[in-house]
Amino acid sequence: MSPNSNMVSLFTRATDPNQYDRDELSGWTETETSITGAGSRATHWERLRSLVGDGWVGARMLDYGAGTGWLLPEAMRLGARRAVGVDPSIRSVRAGRRHQPARDLRHGCLDALDAGETFDLVCAVLSLCHVADLDGFFHDLARKLRPEATVALLVPYATDRRHAGEVARTTVDGGYAVVRRYRELEVVDLVRSPESFVRAAARVGFVPRRVTRFSASTVGLLLAR
Ligand SMILES: C[S@@+](CC[C@H](N)C(=O)[O-])C[C@H]1O[C@@H](n2cnc3c(N)ncnc32)[C@H](O)[C@@H]1O
Repeated sequence: MSPNSNMVSLFTRATDPNQYDRDELSGWTETETSITGAGSRATHWERLRSLVGDGWVGARMLDYGAGTGWLLPEAMRLGARRAVGVDPSIRSVRAGRRHQPARDLRHGCLDALDAGETFDLVCAVLSLCHVADLDGFFHDLARKLRPEATVALLVPYATDRRHAGEVARTTVDGGYAVVRRYRELEVVDLVRSPESFVRAAARVGFVPRRVTRFSASTVGLLLAR
């Protein structure tokens, strides 16, 4: 396989909306339904909560790439008025609904939202690493945002060291694709610099309020108008 075709195939795998519906991932995808599980959701929550501060109170919150929607009840507990999650993985969505039927968790991406439905706070926890076109994403997202909206992102980023479980990495346009393996499970992420998110968001009028390196491989960004 030429380096170029390898690059293309990793980009394709990283941005495949059905990546998390593969059979071999089901044990993992379908069990991470709350912050009390064995996975890393409690850490994600702690980081996101500190990033957003008191921005939960009264917010109409969208969790983009919500997985099983573990964030939705946590946001409500901190005072959100509404919490909606969208995810293209039907297995994750079904698992989240099974765990807690009241979760407003929808199958799809921004297309899963109703026309005219708008949000004050959008969170994306390690999901924008599967979006192929960042400019297009922020352009479409902006139509779903209220004027004072805030966007809080947790994104993977590690240029000078390996990601946990990293077995392969290749340069792609605007960043790199990384293959991570945990036992028999393999996930491909598209990793872009924090500046890439800042640039894409700036096109729709957002500026960074906070950019925080939470760990060697995770960065948090808080963007607002
Ligand atoms: C690492 S998981 C994180 C899930 C969840 N945010 C969490 O913290 O558990 C990445 C999620 O992004 C979803 N995803 C994949 N492609 C996507 C896309 N184009 N837009 C939104 N989400 C996507 C996957 O289905 C998966 O649930």
